[in-house]
Amino acid sequence: MKNNKDSIILGIESSCDDTSAAVLINGKIYSNVVANQEVHTNYGGVVPELASRAHQQNIVPVVDQALKKAKITTKDLSAIAFTKGPGLLGSLLVGTSFAKSMGLGLNIPIIDVHHMKAHIHAHFIQTFNKKEKKIPEFPFICLTVSGGHTQIVLIKDYLDMTIVGETIDDAAGEAFDKAAKLLGFDYPGGPLIDQYSKKGDVSKFKFTYPKVNGYNYSFSGLKTQFLYFLEKNKNKDSRFIQNNLADICASYQNHIISYLFKNVKKAMNQTGCKDLAIAGGVAANSALRKQLKELGQEKSYNTFIPEFEYCTDNAAMIAISGYFLYNAGQFAQQNISPTARITF
Ligand code: KG4
Ligand code: ZN
Repeated sequence: MKNNKDSIILGIESSCDDTSAAVLINGKIYSNVVANQEVHTNYGGVVPELASRAHQQNIVPVVDQALKKAKITTKDLSAIAFTKGPGLLGSLLVGTSFAKSMGLGLNIPIIDVHHMKAHIHAHFIQTFNKKEKKIPEFPFICLTVSGGHTQIVLIKDYLDMTIVGETIDDAAGEAFDKAAKLLGFDYPGGPLIDQYSKKGDVSKFKFTYPKVNGYNYSFSGLKTQFLYFLEKNKNKDSRFIQNNLADICASYQNHIISYLFKNVKKAMNQTGCKDLAIAGGVAANSALRKQLKELGQEKSYNTFIPEFEYCTDNAAMIAISGYFLYNAGQFAQQNISPTARITF
């Protein structure tokens, strides 16, 4: 089936607790298979050792399914893109080693991808059987909010990105997950806060913003603030959480969103960008998506939100990132190692 001019890229993502493989043919996604790891649910966070073991179990069937869904075989592949970092080292090692050996076996190039840049590249994903999606125009600002990162990035071209502001401690996703844990939710609690917030009053409880320089963020103080807020109220009413769950979630979630947008608006003003995007797992949050659209209408920005399946970790974003690097002739060598912390 392979035409010599086709570029067929297999993307592999294994940076945290999702094992994923995707096939991209001439810039379009033909398959995107994700195996979520249930094993962490009761631990309040991802357990690195369990994550790497689960990746080892999942990677072969996930890659196999991605190839089958795209109706291709390994012989059709032009290159393999994989996540080099940032992420959990043990998890990254599984995807990296797999990509390296598969590339060596098939004698095709391998491409190392930066996970956070890939979250942004998710905006350029077109799916083969779906209507062509509108994509942001350069230069644009992207607010990338995930479980490990919170960044405001200026994107001048596919491979020309600069961080304008970022968190100096915890990520926005952690602010969701840690508060969720205090409320008694399983990990990851972000989606549950989202769900309960739908019936809550956003102005019932107030939280304060920390003082941070420039367009940077700090979320670690918010977690402590939330802990003291719950303790104080539980001392007065032992059923405080049960009696106010929706309002607590809505107020807390709304506070995080307002805080995120505060710096984004400043960055949009300063850069003069007209296009504003969000990316990363927290971009799956329904209130954040809704408020982004409202902000766009208010400020006349063009706003962009990736499809739900391309917000949380997925290999389609790794494949599209790999495609831009492939076109630029930027390949990895066989001696490459994954890196838990990696510069942008
Ligand atoms: O990008 P991602 O899948 O993994 C990382 O690279 O970290 O992001 C995971 C984060 C978790 O903190 C999770 O709670 C959060 O995204 N998340 C949400 C929602 N869906 C996922 N947070 C708030 N509301 C959601 N609907
Ligand atoms: Zn991610």
